[in-house]
Amino acid sequence: MIKKRKVVIVGAGNVGASTAFCMINQGICDEIVLIDMNTERAKGETLDMIHSIAFMNRNMEIKLGDYTDCKDADVLVITASAPMGKENDRLVALKSSSKIVTSIVSSAIENGFDGFIVVVSNPVDIMTYVAYKVSGLPANQIIGSGTLLDSARLQCHIADCIDVDPKSIHAYVLGEHGDSEMIPWSTVRVGGKDIYQIIKDNPTRMNEGMFESIHEAVKKDGWEIFNRKGNTCYGIAASTTRIVRALMFNESVVLPISTYLDGQYGQDGVFTSVPAILDATGVKEVVEIEMTKGEKEQFDASCSHLQSFYKEV
Ligand code: LAC
Repeated sequence: MIKKRKVVIVGAGNVGASTAFCMINQGICDEIVLIDMNTERAKGETLDMIHSIAFMNRNMEIKLGDYTDCKDADVLVITASAPMGKENDRLVALKSSSKIVTSIVSSAIENGFDGFIVVVSNPVDIMTYVAYKVSGLPANQIIGSGTLLDSARLQCHIADCIDVDPKSIHAYVLGEHGDSEMIPWSTVRVGGKDIYQIIKDNPTRMNEGMFESIHEAVKKDGWEIFNRKGNTCYGIAASTTRIVRALMFNESVVLPISTYLDGQYGQDGVFTSVPAILDATGVKEVVEIEMTKGEKEQFDASCSHLQSFYKEV
């Protein structure tokens, strides 16, 4: 009997439901179980999604479940978090989200879960650390969505300037998924050509003065959406699905995600975003890219900023 690929999603709000639907559309697993304190809402989402299956390329079981479903799950996706306030700072939800993530992870582990945890709840880097501590699972099994979405946003901004498909742009946002995130511009490439050469050859399209405004725009992108519709869901759903797909299909793809640094980049014991190779074993390897001195200082500052909150969770 071939084992079913099973994903449990905790949190059936906009992010959890969009993530489930993205996974259904991409057909990346055999079974999705939704868990939410609001069982009526989760039941509604479940039924709605079940009715979509007839139009998908492959069948999938969608269920409303509980923590006993974690026992044989391959991946636990955590999207539940405290509501975001009007402050436009993901860190305001720190303490209340930490309680929620602690309770979710404890319940999953008590029910025999030993798979991968993909944390989406904000502030995501610190919640990923909480999931790691509470679960007792190996660090390579704990992944935060981190700056995967910010990196996609960065690619979109650069693409707008130089009129190239964002997928042809190699550009990472690293560090915190939040205000201290940084862009190692010296590593940005388009079709193998480095960004400094590109702006030199195409000064009318892009110049170095735009680096700062693009960085600011990337940081604000989430809030541009949140302040208009009260949440962001499709970008984060697609990013999360990308991570789970890499695990399910043993892809060895390199993605910037929040992972545990244990000496890499000179950092010790912090969850933050760096490029990492993801396969069926989780984080197979952290990719250490060379940054300039100034970039490395920004990255280190972001790590210190994140670690300063560890005593509060
Ligand atoms: C965003 C949320 C996921 O940036 O933090 O869209």
